[in-house]
Amino acid sequence: MRAIDLRSDTFTKPNRAMLECILDAELGDDVEREDPTVIELEETASRMLGKEAGLLTTSGTQANLLALMVHCGHGDEVILEKEAHIYYYEVGGMASVAGLMPKLVQGTRGVFTGDQVRAAHWGEDLHYPHGSLVAIENTHNRAGGCCWSLEQVADAADAIQELGMRLHVDGARIFNASLAQSCPVDRLVREADTVMFCLSKGLAAPVGSMLVGDTETIERARKIRKMIGGGMRQAGVIAAPGLYALRNMVDRLQEDHDNARVLAEGLRSIGFGVDMSTVQTNIVIADVSPLGMDADTFVLQAENIGIRIFAFSPTAVRFVTHYGIGPDDVSEVLERLTGHYPLPIPR
Ligand SMILES: Cc1ncc(COP(=O)(O)O)c(C=O)c1O
Repeated sequence: MRAIDLRSDTFTKPNRAMLECILDAELGDDVEREDPTVIELEETASRMLGKEAGLLTTSGTQANLLALMVHCGHGDEVILEKEAHIYYYEVGGMASVAGLMPKLVQGTRGVFTGDQVRAAHWGEDLHYPHGSLVAIENTHNRAGGCCWSLEQVADAADAIQELGMRLHVDGARIFNASLAQSCPVDRLVREADTVMFCLSKGLAAPVGSMLVGDTETIERARKIRKMIGGGMRQAGVIAAPGLYALRNMVDRLQEDHDNARVLAEGLRSIGFGVDMSTVQTNIVIADVSPLGMDADTFVLQAENIGIRIFAFSPTAVRFVTHYGIGPDDVSEVLERLTGHYPLPIPR
């Protein structure tokens, strides 16, 4: 049986055109700033996001770490959401490498307010760590791809400015947030000092993420990237498909959002618990407890009928739509779940 892989948009594969542009890419030593393709990518990315400069990194995790290190001194406080990717999934790099103190804020669908930032900030008492950075995640992965709106970013940014802190946006899926809200991406990140976004994931490039911000900050990040082993030589082989992705793969993310909505509605109609208000982009979180089983059991059963997903919590699983998954795949998934396996779904 053909497997339909909805585990994550990290499983996207580059298309032929993307791979072919690697063959034609002009290359040079990027540590010496002599790779024209990397330079073009960095200029294109920063222009699209409305920032002065850009830096190609090996991964989103690396770009987030660079942002933490460039904005904060050792021992500083970083305010972030309780289930932020930086806190939850980046191997504790903020503590072990950057030496930072996380101050966690409980968001609503991944979003917190300016007042929550004010309340979380330690202040300048002799006893407290210096509060230097607030990191927000747009879209928020563990909130099921929910978006920060322009107004919500502005509200947090007001507090951040008042407190003399800086704002980093973990925008691994910032183009999803922009499309879902019909908001130009540069406007959505206007208040941010730095933004990370991924060329891999929904944009389907094989490797790489970008960090963008003002020139001085990005040049300092470039040096830290070198220190942590992220200086790459003929990195145009990575930049070429990245450029292709920025030019050709952004608008099609809408297809992933449309597919996610159809999938979510279908799952609901066959008995899964889905909160449709959280289905804003390409991620669907489905509660499997109405089926009388836990998430791990369901994941195993789904694998048997060629549906690949990840458990998200003891009771919920996550489906992610992405490049390579079409409307037919979504119909097929719903058909397999309803018809091809004796799941105890109430109909
Ligand atoms: C919100 C968010 N930030 C950062 C990352 C890290 O990206 P990478 O896997 O390229 O390190 C991810 C990866 O899934 C993510 O979802």
